[in-house]
Amino acid sequence: MIWRSVLLVCVIGYVYAQESSACPDYINGTVFVPLTYTNGACHDVQNPFEGLSLQIHIRTEKPQYVDGLGTPMGFDRPSPREISNLVHRQPPGLPSNIKGSSRLLIFFGQFIDHDFALVSEQPEVEGVGELLDIEVPRSDTRFNAPLAFGRSEFLLDQSGVRQFVNNLTPYLDLGNVYGDTLNRTARLRSSTGGALLVDPTLFQALQTEFPPFIDPLPNGNFAPLCGDIRCGENTQLFAWHTLWLRNHNYWARRTQAAMTLDPVLDNDLIFNVARVKNIIEYQALVWGQYLPYLLGRINFFALTGNYVFNTGVDPTVSLVFSTAAFRYGHSGVPNDLVFLDESRNPVRPTLPLVNAFMMPRLVVTNPNGGLTDYVGNMFLGQGSISHDILDSRIVDALRDNLFANVPAFAPGSDLPARNIQRARDHGLATINTYRASVGLQPYVCPENPLECFEQITTNSEISEALFELYGDISECEIFPCGMAEDSYRDSLLGETFTFLLAESFQRIRSADRLWYQNEEVVEGFTGLNPTFPPGVGFPIGLSSVVDRNVNQDQQTEPRGNLFVTQTVWLAFAAPDEFIIEWFLPRGIAAPMYQITVNMGGNVRTIMQGGSELLATRVSEGVSPGMRITVSVAAATAPGATTPIGEVTFTTPGGPAPRTTYTPGAIAGIIIACIVGLVLLLGFGLCLSKRSGRYNKYKQETFL
Ligand code: HEM
Repeated sequence: MIWRSVLLVCVIGYVYAQESSACPDYINGTVFVPLTYTNGACHDVQNPFEGLSLQIHIRTEKPQYVDGLGTPMGFDRPSPREISNLVHRQPPGLPSNIKGSSRLLIFFGQFIDHDFALVSEQPEVEGVGELLDIEVPRSDTRFNAPLAFGRSEFLLDQSGVRQFVNNLTPYLDLGNVYGDTLNRTARLRSSTGGALLVDPTLFQALQTEFPPFIDPLPNGNFAPLCGDIRCGENTQLFAWHTLWLRNHNYWARRTQAAMTLDPVLDNDLIFNVARVKNIIEYQALVWGQYLPYLLGRINFFALTGNYVFNTGVDPTVSLVFSTAAFRYGHSGVPNDLVFLDESRNPVRPTLPLVNAFMMPRLVVTNPNGGLTDYVGNMFLGQGSISHDILDSRIVDALRDNLFANVPAFAPGSDLPARNIQRARDHGLATINTYRASVGLQPYVCPENPLECFEQITTNSEISEALFELYGDISECEIFPCGMAEDSYRDSLLGETFTFLLAESFQRIRSADRLWYQNEEVVEGFTGLNPTFPPGVGFPIGLSSVVDRNVNQDQQTEPRGNLFVTQTVWLAFAAPDEFIIEWFLPRGIAAPMYQITVNMGGNVRTIMQGGSELLATRVSEGVSPGMRITVSVAAATAPGATTPIGEVTFTTPGGPAPRTTYTPGAIAGIIIACIVGLVLLLGFGLCLSKRSGRYNKYKQETFL
């Protein structure tokens, strides 16, 4: 293992040496392009090597190892598979999430994850890789042998403690599309038009672009070559990769034409400008739509504030973020993938997720084995259905059948069990430790240990299972307990994961001088008169990115935002307050919003400004069990409003509903009482005649 550590140190040293001299922005004749490198260099010119790929994940807490160095905890803990069976099993028919966010919100999360986190597993070469197989309880109904599990590659720090290298840059820089090392980027690029390479055969057959299937596999087939090696991990993920590759080439074509550049001589310039524009759109979606939706607008903006570039901020991804918190998405992954046309009708049979693992080609393969481009149909499909509630429960496709369709991984594995085992491999601590690390109060219940688990979740089945497994909250591991937490205010996640995510994204943003809201970027690449035309237009919606990159008959408009299945929704309700959030439909730019609240006939109108805070919190006059209707409209011009949507709900905790009776109902009740009385009299008579027989039976049987 030591030689592997030495090798990794050498690789990091080599990258440093290569880049050590400089951080020049790209100059082409008189053209000056502010530039970052795909290996993460130059996001902060004064600290150009801050945020490189191949850096050690930061630990926010002391590692939890038996020997303090690297021997995983777990010998006195329940097996990860047992925890998975009791806490992560998802029964059929769970309710979808309260906000009605679509499955695309979940799969976009996976795509983003593959932009900034990848720890490699030790390769199993001639029995060298360390194994930490997952024990399977005897009573298990799915598996009857331990689940194979390889430990992660590591470096030893000065104290001999294991540390883990992130192969990717922490920035939101579409490394999953452009690669995270200069070598990989070079392999992905075309020598003309500033473009990314596309698959030549598929392009010839369909006239549409896909990542090239040119990465040789041991079985003689070819995997797609993308920025991130996992792009073929499931069919929907591959659709995301295809979308952002096409979006790069879209901007490359438009930039070349608008700036009348030479496709060969200016290849580098076109590539770099198109890359910045592609990243602007991606960051705007992550920050402007995905994160406020996931973490709740009110939480998110309160926790992260405005963008300010801060030189010297360390953007490095923390180990708990990638090993536990950002794996939250595993709970929202559905059991199947749906392909819809623009009228929302299926264009091919639903694809069970168990058949979609490692099957990128299904995005272009019709049921007859011929070629059809389904990219737009997959966005329409997953964009039209709400994902399941985000909690500890995870569908069987991931929990019992992970990669079961791939012969090399037969009979399959259990993803939540792997997450728990990976956390032990990486020496992660307990939920209380991480709560303290982000300034939250730990759970403490000395009198009644079960109570702490009940504070985590109102689902008594899960709180009791966690109690049974751990007994004491101070023992509860971060993945199962973090996932189980009830959603925090207007967030889709629990409190601990909400804070951990906000903290990480906040650092990633402040460390990036080329963030999409940075003045230099705004002036150079956006609006009507940018230095590098054509400018990226705001506001940016997922639908606009999808529509420009899919076939005519797969357009998502006029339905609007693909991250949501409704426009206005209840994000949080307590007995005495509620939070409403909404999305601005495409094409509407509103400086003000009109929120009309009807509380049992008492109507109030609230005017609210602001471009990003598309949410409002109401507490005045709210009481338990109150039925409330809220409608939201955009005030597009003085005196003119455009309705956005409406939602009706009842605040929790009201008194049992009082019934009011109409005269008709009262008459009905009186008649029913008379009929009942008559029947009772008749029944009594009958009983008195048969009582002798009844008593005899009673004696024979029970005495
Ligand atoms: C079909 C969907 C998905 C599959 C099959 C999948 C599979 C996996 C697997 C096999 C791992 C490695 C587990 C290990 O430690 O051994 C992993 C890691 C991870 N997954 Fe997923 N995942 C999916 C969706 C998601 C989603 C939706 C998210 C987030 C929103 C996500 C976030 C992560 C993160 C952050 C890691 C750790 C990456 C690293 O640091 O190396 N995954 N996933």
